[in-house]
Amino acid sequence: MSEFSNPNLEVLISSEEIQQRIKQMGADVARDYAGLNPLLIGVLKGACIFLSDLMRAADIPLGLEFIAISSYGASMRTSGEVRILKDLDVAIEGRHILVVEDIVDTGLTLSYLLANLKSRGAASVKLAALLDKFERREKEVPIDYLGFPIPDKFVVGYGLDFAERYRNLPFIAVVRDPEV
Ligand code: IMP
Repeated sequence: MSEFSNPNLEVLISSEEIQQRIKQMGADVARDYAGLNPLLIGVLKGACIFLSDLMRAADIPLGLEFIAISSYGASMRTSGEVRILKDLDVAIEGRHILVVEDIVDTGLTLSYLLANLKSRGAASVKLAALLDKFERREKEVPIDYLGFPIPDKFVVGYGLDFAERYRNLPFIAVVRDPEV
């Protein structure tokens, strides 16, 4: 059965809309970071597809790193603490950092990560996010480059998963019945 035309999925943002928006975001990044040799930091795993499209839309010299952080459990929600599962391979002192994330939901993960990166002496730390579930925000997180604001619905596709499924969808969708 085709995964992409799965009747359990309701398309929220089409592949064409995503491509068009990311082209513009890449041009904005290229303009703002010209001559700065920024370091793009992708947050694994969800940001991988957005990151690979965004960096190819940004026609400037840049570097690439990845970081993996634990998804939060009950304890983190109160402490705001996030565990780093895979750290950067390089020092970032003096570098211009652009964190690339799939979605900002409560903002807890990103506010921790952005503060952590700033504390390492980066020259600047900014954020590019494909999706913003703004209604759910608990911690303020400035999004410098945003793809799309979305309603408070659980979405999948374009890197985002539900129990590790649906990351390969070329569009963003809402799962009608999570049990199927
Ligand atoms: P935050 O700390 O609540 O902002 O959580 C951000 C992380 O939660 C994202 O990087 C995603 O991994 C995950 N997440 C939040 N909302 C969704 C969703 O609608 N679909 C899939 N993953 C989500």
